[in-house]
Amino acid sequence: QANAQWGGRFAGGPSAIMQEINASIGFDKALWRQDIAGSLAHAAMLARTGIISAQDEAEIRQGLTEIGQEIEAGRFVFSTALEDIHMNIEARLSERIGEAGKRLHTARSRNDQVATDFRLWVRDAIDGLDAQVAALMRALCRRAQEHAADPMPGFTHLQTAQPVTFGHHLMAYVEMLGRDRGRLADTRRRLNECPLGSAALAGTSFPIDRRMTAATLGFDRPTANSLDAVSDRDFALEYLSALSIMGMHLSRLSEEIVIWCSAPFAFVRLSDAFTTGSSIMPQKRNPDAAELVRAKIGRVSGALVGLLTVMKGLPLAYAKDMQEDKEPVFAATDAAALSLAACDGMVRDLAANTDRMRAYAGSGYSTATDLADWLVRVLKLPFRTAHHVTGRLVGLAESRGVDLAQLSLEDMQAEEPGITQDIFSVLTVEASIASRISEGGTAPGNVRAQATRWLTELEGA
Ligand code: ARG
Repeated sequence: QANAQWGGRFAGGPSAIMQEINASIGFDKALWRQDIAGSLAHAAMLARTGIISAQDEAEIRQGLTEIGQEIEAGRFVFSTALEDIHMNIEARLSERIGEAGKRLHTARSRNDQVATDFRLWVRDAIDGLDAQVAALMRALCRRAQEHAADPMPGFTHLQTAQPVTFGHHLMAYVEMLGRDRGRLADTRRRLNECPLGSAALAGTSFPIDRRMTAATLGFDRPTANSLDAVSDRDFALEYLSALSIMGMHLSRLSEEIVIWCSAPFAFVRLSDAFTTGSSIMPQKRNPDAAELVRAKIGRVSGALVGLLTVMKGLPLAYAKDMQEDKEPVFAATDAAALSLAACDGMVRDLAANTDRMRAYAGSGYSTATDLADWLVRVLKLPFRTAHHVTGRLVGLAESRGVDLAQLSLEDMQAEEPGITQDIFSVLTVEASIASRISEGGTAPGNVRAQATRWLTELEGA
C-alpha cells in the first residue's frame, strides 16, 4: 500500500528492504522536541501571514502540544512505514485534528524542516556540553589551587625535563578546554540561522515571513540561500570538529591519568569509585574510566570522518545520503558528554601523591637548566657555553651516580673556575619552581593567579 503522506502517484508500496533502508525513525525520533517547536513556529507564521486561518493554527497548536505529551509519556506509537519523525508527527496530527493538520505542511518541505530541526538539536547539544566543559574547568581550577605549589616532574619526550607544579600541569588543561568552549561558541554563532522557508530547495511562492519563524525559534536570522540551507551540513561538521579537538584533549588528560596511576609512577590514586578490579588478578585496581574516555573519543573523531565522507560527493541540493548525518552526531554527543562527566569525576576524585611527585621532580638532573642559567646570569657566560659546562657537570654527576647538588664546589670549579657556593641555591626543586615567574610560567603565585582568574571568568557559566 502506498505511503499515506506522499503516495499519490504510487500504485504500490515499498518492499520491506526499501522500508528498512529508507526509515530513519529509529534514530531521528530524538528530534521530536525540535520538530514540534519548528512546526509550532511555522504554523504561527502561516496564520499571521493569512496562509492558514487562526482557527486552523489553534487546532494545530493544540494537537502538536498533545502529541508532545504523548511522546514524553511514551504513549506515541512510532511507525516505520512513516519513515521519519517529521511524517510520524504530521500523520498523527492529521489523525487527531483532521483537515487543519493537513495544512501544516504548506510552504514547507521535509528538507527545510529537517535542516531546521537538526540545527536546533545541535544548538541544544552545544549548550549542554558547554556547561559540562565549564564544570570540568572549575574542577581543574580548584585542584590546581590546592596543588599550586606542589612540585612534579615536567616532561618532554616523557623524559624528566624541568620541575613544574601539579597545579600548573592541571591549569594547562583549563587553557585547552577554554579554547574548546570558544570553538563550540563559534560553531553555535555560525549555525544560528534558520533554514525554514527554504522549502524543498527553491523557496516558496507563498507570502511567508521567514524573519518571524527565525525569531520565534531563537535564530539570529533566516539563511540567505535556499539551496545552501537545505543541502549543507557544515554546521554539524564544524560541531564534530570542535568535539573532536575537545575529545583529543580529554583523551590526553585520560592518558596522563593512566600513566600517573601506574605503580612505577604512582603520582595519583583514584578511589574505589573510579577504579575497577580484575577477574583473575586480585591485587588489581585499574583506571578503566580513563581508558574508556581515551577509547570513546575515537567515536567522536570517527563521526567527523564518517560525516565528511558522506557529504563530500553530494551534488546540490538535498540527497537522501544526508539522512545519515544524524547518527554520527548523536553518537559523538553521547560519547563527549559521558567523557566529560568521567573526566570531571576523576579530576575531583584523584588524590595526588605529592611526596612521590616531589621526589621525582628533583631526579634526572631536572635543575640542570637552572645551573646553566646561573652561569649566564652571574658569570655572564654565553648561554651556549653555559649549556656545555652544565652538560659536562651532568656527565660527571652521572658517572658518580649522584645528583648535581651532591657534586662538591671543587668539582664544579674544575669545570668553570668562576663558580661559587651560591650556585647550590638554584639547584633545589623549590628554587627552580619559584624562579619561573615569567608570564605563564610555573611559579606557584602564577598558578594561583591563573586559577583565580579562570574561576572568576567561569562564574555563571
Ligand atoms: N528523514 C529525512 C532526513 O533526515 C528527511 C528529509 C527527507 N527529504 C526528502 N526529500 N526525502 O534527511
